[in-house]
Amino acid sequence: MARRKIIAGNWKMNKTPSEAVALVEELKPLVANDDVDVVFCVPAIDIIPVVEACKGTNIQVGAENMYFEESGAYTGEIAPAMLTDAGVSYVVLGHSERREYFAETSETVNKKMLKAFEHGITPIMCCGETLEQREQGVTMDFIRQQVKVGFLGVTADQAKTAVIAYEPIWAIGTGKTATTEQAQEVCAGIRSCIAEIYDEATAEAVRIQYGGSVNAATAPELFAQADIDGGLVGGASLKADFGKIVNYK
Ligand code: 13P
Repeated sequence: MARRKIIAGNWKMNKTPSEAVALVEELKPLVANDDVDVVFCVPAIDIIPVVEACKGTNIQVGAENMYFEESGAYTGEIAPAMLTDAGVSYVVLGHSERREYFAETSETVNKKMLKAFEHGITPIMCCGETLEQREQGVTMDFIRQQVKVGFLGVTADQAKTAVIAYEPIWAIGTGKTATTEQAQEVCAGIRSCIAEIYDEATAEAVRIQYGGSVNAATAPELFAQADIDGGLVGGASLKADFGKIVNYK
């Protein structure tokens, strides 16, 4: 069975609540494509107004992070039940910016993965190498480690519903998209890694996105690759361009 493409915007730390609603209103008609899953991953404070603004559309709302405890004395954190109650169905976990600036590790990502599944939230788990790692030839070793630790304790049935975003760090926000061949090669490697951990059926089901300077010009060729099931889009998700990316065909 063909995997359904999933095209998600990661707004990062952009847009106030009122700006967020205005952006949704602008993008709504442009991203109306029922052939793909469309997700807007937005800052926590924007979630409630964005869910409201997306009612009756094909847009699903995601969070950009989540904590792995149910509730309690964790000042500043957001619990999984808060997200589901607000209408969130996806959560970005382990983005390289969180790993770099907020001490996120594959171990904490793994705890969050398990919690997300427990609450019926689909994780979009990010992985990706630095330029140095690519030049050292350890890209796939590094990513396999991120994936293996991230999926520890995740069942095959859960893994089948997961989304993995391959985002080479050197391609994020740099305007330097990975070549189609580079992106396809790593996404295929991630799929093989899932097959090793679980089985072929799980590997065939899991959806793998490419992220890193995706734009309207690069999306069609990237998304046509056998192992690339859509994209996680940063900068271009805040513009009308996102409509073109969603309608890449
Ligand atoms: P850009 O599309 O701005 O390079 O960001 C990619 C990204 O980090 C998405 O999560």
